[in-house]
Amino acid sequence: MGNGRLAKGLSRVVFTTEALQRRVRELAAEIEHDYRELLGEEVWERPVVAVGLLRGAVIFLADLVRAMEIPLEYDFISISSYGDQTAPGELKLIKDLEVPLEGRDVLIVEDITDTGRTLAYIRELLLQRGPRSLRICCLIDKVPRREVEVELDYVGFRLEEDEFLVGYGLDYAGLYRNLPYVAALKPGLK
Ligand code: IMP
Ligand code: MG
Repeated sequence: MGNGRLAKGLSRVVFTTEALQRRVRELAAEIEHDYRELLGEEVWERPVVAVGLLRGAVIFLADLVRAMEIPLEYDFISISSYGDQTAPGELKLIKDLEVPLEGRDVLIVEDITDTGRTLAYIRELLLQRGPRSLRICCLIDKVPRREVEVELDYVGFRLEEDEFLVGYGLDYAGLYRNLPYVAALKPGLK
């Protein structure tokens, strides 16, 4: 199951592989149900566009879309924050989408929401492209850390603890993304 031995530098498993898989299937079912309701007979004519944020959302998006049966496309966008570790920096677009969003039903897929700045920025950016609808699905919501208001339509887990998480796509200095579970980094390492 991959949770037997905790990787170096981690203090505890926060979400096991099984818990992630179960929750991702539930989210997929809920999202699929809602889009079937929105699209009705047009489900094949108007495929949803899932937009994943590089690089953290890759693993979540891969599992999420494979748990859905509605027709969809996916594409990726990359945003970077130019700041030091302590102050939130200015957000910049590093890699844009290739799929035009005009008139499309768009689902943003993100790994984790902390201050909310990243999703607020992406939401504004994508709204300018005239999608017919825009929803946000985020695997983990670090509720007490929010600084900017952003409405999350689908949330996998709400985390009340102020911990830095890694695994299942989430990284620390580029590492740990390939862990099949989500764990907390040992305090003091970050
Ligand atoms: P926000 O803009 O402050 O909401 O930060 C969101 C981004 O910061 C996410 O896309 C992640 O890349 C990163 N991030 C925030 N919290 C964590 C964490 O606990 N582990 C790994 N990355 C995180
Ligand atoms: Mg990110």
